[in-house]
Amino acid sequence: EIDIKVEELIKEMTLDEKIGQMNQYNGFMDFTGPTPQNGFEAVKYENIRKGLVGAMLNVHGVENVRAVQKIAVEETRLGIPLLFGFDVIHGFKTISPIPLAEAASWDLEAIKKSAQIAAEEASAAGINWTFAPMVDISRDARWGRVMEGAGEDPYLGSLIAKARVEGFQGVDLTSEKTLAACAKHFAAYGFAEAGRDYNTADLGTSTLYNTVLPPFKAALESDVKTFMNGFNILNGIPSTGDAFLQRDILKGKWEFDGFVVSDWGSITEMIPHGFAKDGKEAAKLAILAGSDMDMESYLYVTKLAELVKNGEVDEALIDDAVRRILRVKFELGLFDDPYKYCDLERETATIGKQSFHDEVLEIAKKSIVLLKNENNLLPLQKSGQKIAVIGPLAADKTSPLGSWRIGADDETAVSVLEGFKKYNSTNQISYAKGADLILNKPLFTTELEINTSDTSGFGEAIQTAKNADVIVMVLGEHGFQSGEGRSRTNLDLPGVQQQLLEEVYNVNKNVVLVLQNGRPLTINWASENIPSIVVGWHLGTQSGNALAQVLYGDYNPSGKLPMTFPRNVGQLPLYYNYYNTGRPVEPAPNQVFWSHYIDESNDPLYPFGYGLSYTSFEYDQLEVTNKFSENNVVEILITVKNTGNTSGKETAQLYIKDLYSSVVKPVRALKGFQQIELEPGETRTLQFLLTEQELGFYDNSGNWVVEPGTFEVFVGGNSKAILSKQFEI
Ligand code: IFM
Repeated sequence: EIDIKVEELIKEMTLDEKIGQMNQYNGFMDFTGPTPQNGFEAVKYENIRKGLVGAMLNVHGVENVRAVQKIAVEETRLGIPLLFGFDVIHGFKTISPIPLAEAASWDLEAIKKSAQIAAEEASAAGINWTFAPMVDISRDARWGRVMEGAGEDPYLGSLIAKARVEGFQGVDLTSEKTLAACAKHFAAYGFAEAGRDYNTADLGTSTLYNTVLPPFKAALESDVKTFMNGFNILNGIPSTGDAFLQRDILKGKWEFDGFVVSDWGSITEMIPHGFAKDGKEAAKLAILAGSDMDMESYLYVTKLAELVKNGEVDEALIDDAVRRILRVKFELGLFDDPYKYCDLERETATIGKQSFHDEVLEIAKKSIVLLKNENNLLPLQKSGQKIAVIGPLAADKTSPLGSWRIGADDETAVSVLEGFKKYNSTNQISYAKGADLILNKPLFTTELEINTSDTSGFGEAIQTAKNADVIVMVLGEHGFQSGEGRSRTNLDLPGVQQQLLEEVYNVNKNVVLVLQNGRPLTINWASENIPSIVVGWHLGTQSGNALAQVLYGDYNPSGKLPMTFPRNVGQLPLYYNYYNTGRPVEPAPNQVFWSHYIDESNDPLYPFGYGLSYTSFEYDQLEVTNKFSENNVVEILITVKNTGNTSGKETAQLYIKDLYSSVVKPVRALKGFQQIELEPGETRTLQFLLTEQELGFYDNSGNWVVEPGTFEVFVGGNSKAILSKQFEI
């Protein structure tokens, strides 16, 4: 029925009106890309009125959205409603943990819930389309945008992509509480060379098919309505102009019937890339390649009509793009009620609801990863312990919101200090900042000035540490030190924080290091010396409450790293599912001709999948029952026992290695995981099933194949699991 309505509408549209639907303007409030300098600001309203705009971004709030929608609906010839897109990445005003942190929960229901909350809150503020989830796999922690994804693994990444799309879009896209989602950035943007944002991606076919594309496919299979392409080049072609990716794979082989939006200005950026000689050619290459909507390049609206008229672009391509865009508008129900997201009462009642805070607190606790806990320094005692909370981020109420939280106001997170004081008002909690981390006001749009020399606050911190039983040191990255445009060449604690940590440790060794981070950090010294280390990411609005509850033991930490923590930035890209070299091991003592560094181990500091609990788990009795020849399934059984004194949650992980195959396989690849809660002494036997879906792979032509051969299966609590068995199919 929708298709018929779309066709009828297209028949009524002029060429200019059709092209207008393919045009997206930034709003008038926020910028999430370079500020345009070409005077287009002035004509935006006028162009909406002329029916030359199909979507806006960065307009939010019921009154603002209604005002702009009104122009489109009431003043244009056809009254086609606008889409309102926004980067609702991890919440709108009530902020959940950054996506990388949520991925550490490995809890798909919790991740889906988080997206659901974000959708409900953002849609109450007029938004109907989110530019999320970012499903880019990345293996390089230097890249600031790793905070926005699900980490390094395509299997976990695919399940999380599905959870997020389902969370945002819900079961009913016409509900005013859901948003159209957008799988981005198609494709390989997460492979930016040297981790420098917007840089070239250069990767092999096997990695493209088996690592980069699967989470996009998972999003598509979850019925994601839109895709966004990227800023990067892949194989010499900017992804915005890549017909192989967008036409052959996405719209061809995968039969995607939603639309593709360009990234901010990425059509015009094909000129500096050296792919298009001018704006006209850029517009032509983008539409030929399957980019349906132009975000902030102003090129479709100015060049496409001429390209159609002179025969360089077939009008059928324009119709196809418009069909896709209109279909999403119909599916959202915008033609029935263009103001369905513009209810002031709902906005007031919904934004910042207590139930959202309760939910994001739960997700935040699940996202925390315990890396080390010597002598059971954690959990802290609920009485009788003097706690010193120290560090430049300890009292910070903005940093925990992380990057990409543009609907949220500054200072709206619960800081660690606040969380501690509220949690345990009877215990003595002292505080010292120790040093500043950032010297200017951190903003999404500006470069940060880091304090690299001022240590004048150290004295107070040291004194505070001396008087405490346990020190909770909150160090790491400010929320805006990761995210878009925030690549780093050095992943140590920034500024004077390492020095502060060492000086405090020198006077009191009972230190719990709480990291605030948007990416893996190199924390070798801390890992060797500090007794307890907790990865506290940027946990969002409820950050301090979540950390207090975990550190005091009300919630037993259960997070597992979704990205490898390197020892040294020189090891990057570093990831668990690498290929063996032909010289993987030291051939004989003191020989040099094997694949290694002469100044650092090959091993990570903490591997993918790693995370401790206040209890411990033992894996035993791995059994493999191979029924592949009968009914295409290999059954794996494993027994997990809680060997500690407290109940806890474990994520049991299953990895496989295909020992020999026509395309070399990673040393191990995640193919299953299960979360279980066990009481002390309790044992549970888990069953995993491996089918063609887990045992097959994409060959270098992109075809799915399952090859007979020998496999090894590993099961355990992280990617270094040692229990293993072989089987053949
Ligand atoms: O959605 C983002 C994208 O990920 C990066 N450039 C800007 C877009 C819109 O804000």
